[in-house]
Amino acid sequence: MQQQNDNRRGFLKKTVVAGTAAATVPYYFSSPKTLASETRSKNDRIPIGLIGAGGMGIGNMRSAKQWLDVVAIADVDKGRLESTNKSLSGGKADTYTDYQKILERDDIKLIHIATPDHWHTKPLIEAMLAGKDVYCEKPLTLTIDEGKLIRKVQKETGRIVQVGTQQRSQFRLFTKAIALVAEGRLGKITKVSVAIGGAPQSPEIPVVDVPENLDWDRWLGPAPAVDYRFHQAKDEDGKNKGRAITNCHFQFRWWYEYSGGKLTDWGAHHVDIANWALKANGQTEGPISIGGSAEHPVEFKDGFPVQKNQYNTATKFKFSVKYPNGTEMVIRNDTSNGVLIEGDKGRIFVNRGKLTGKPVEDLKTNPLPKDAIKKVYKGLPMEHDGRRAHWANFIHCHREQVEPISDVHSHMQMLNICHLAGISARLGRDLKWDDENEQIVGDDQANSFLKRDYRKGYEIQMPELAKS
Ligand SMILES: NC(=O)c1ccc[n+]([C@@H]2O[C@H](COP(=O)([O-])OP(=O)(O)OC[C@H]3O[C@@H](n4cnc5c(N)ncnc54)[C@H](O)[C@@H]3O)[C@@H](O)[C@H]2O)c1
Repeated sequence: MQQQNDNRRGFLKKTVVAGTAAATVPYYFSSPKTLASETRSKNDRIPIGLIGAGGMGIGNMRSAKQWLDVVAIADVDKGRLESTNKSLSGGKADTYTDYQKILERDDIKLIHIATPDHWHTKPLIEAMLAGKDVYCEKPLTLTIDEGKLIRKVQKETGRIVQVGTQQRSQFRLFTKAIALVAEGRLGKITKVSVAIGGAPQSPEIPVVDVPENLDWDRWLGPAPAVDYRFHQAKDEDGKNKGRAITNCHFQFRWWYEYSGGKLTDWGAHHVDIANWALKANGQTEGPISIGGSAEHPVEFKDGFPVQKNQYNTATKFKFSVKYPNGTEMVIRNDTSNGVLIEGDKGRIFVNRGKLTGKPVEDLKTNPLPKDAIKKVYKGLPMEHDGRRAHWANFIHCHREQVEPISDVHSHMQMLNICHLAGISARLGRDLKWDDENEQIVGDDQANSFLKRDYRKGYEIQMPELAKS
């Protein structure tokens, strides 16, 4: 462990900036912290810092409360900061509007990132560089190049990163489906179909004053500077009617500026299962092309929405992803949410409520070997189920310093597919993909979507990497 720490310090010496302009060198490059995770007894409670005190941050911290104490919370909305502090720790946690303050603390080794999607890559990289182990919500990135940065930093720092794709820890459903595939019960997989629904549409959303509690500039962070939009419909009695429509809390999902729409919001869950199934079936090669069609609620020019005042992500789509061995992955909005896995010996369907198909029925007379599910779960302990199990997995992997079930490498493999679907949707054309070099073939305009510009002051600062 000592040698690993020395290597980490060497690696932190120089920095380059992934983005447009260099900003001041942050604390963790000039004065690296104690990077090793402390050895603790299995029953010790672990302090954690929460970045992003919205719906998912709260839900996750409740799922993990048997192991963790939330000692610090960061949010750019002071109202949420206060109410989340009250509900998660009786108001005892330290609160910050700048999440960097949590990363500076030596007493916190675990971080949970539950910010909107456009605010994942930067704090995740910074947290790893500050020596923290991180449970970060999906999708980890908005672009394919951000995935390369995360993989590099994770490899170099050796930090433990769990992605919030908790379906991997739904043992009776998704994990069991993968075990069926791995045990050959479907034969050779020929097709996986992923149904994830389409994004909602909105009417024009008015520009209004930014609420007093909200630091809108910091909420936007690396994304382009735009006006704050919000509208809450009311019924005759003046009560709220449905969810508010906005370009901010929760609804950021339906704007390409902050998300990939359904293609990454739900794609990150179900494409992950589809990709896991292909890997469990022995498929080693990545995709070679993606083609299909998509509908957006607004007009697009050169891959960017023309109207800036309403949701803009794809409402309808159907994509076909092809692999060198003839396998196909279909990603669509128009059938029942779930993943259909088809092989030359049988097919199964799985979603958050059911696992069906003849190979499942056949388990009554021909059950899976005792360790089949554990084998696809990397042999890791299987405690609880669903989100709580996913947190148990992260805590275990933090304590043992081993790779969690939702690792950054498999996440990026499948997220590349989601992002390619998004690029194809935005440009309205099919794409050829060079998986080894992570480049779109012969299409400069499409390749320009592999990265995004960061607003000045919100660039990602990358150390010069020793390993590529
Ligand atoms: N794994 C799952 O099943 C699942 C389910 C829902 C959401 N999610 C993911 O969780 C994330 C959060 O989703 P949500 O629905 O809770 O969104 P949300 O908008 O309710 O909450 C996000 C919070 O982050 C805060 N925030 C924004 N910028 C910040 C910054 N720079 N520093 C600190 N806080 C900042 C916002 O003010 C907000 O309070 C998303 O990435 C989403 O994809 C995952």
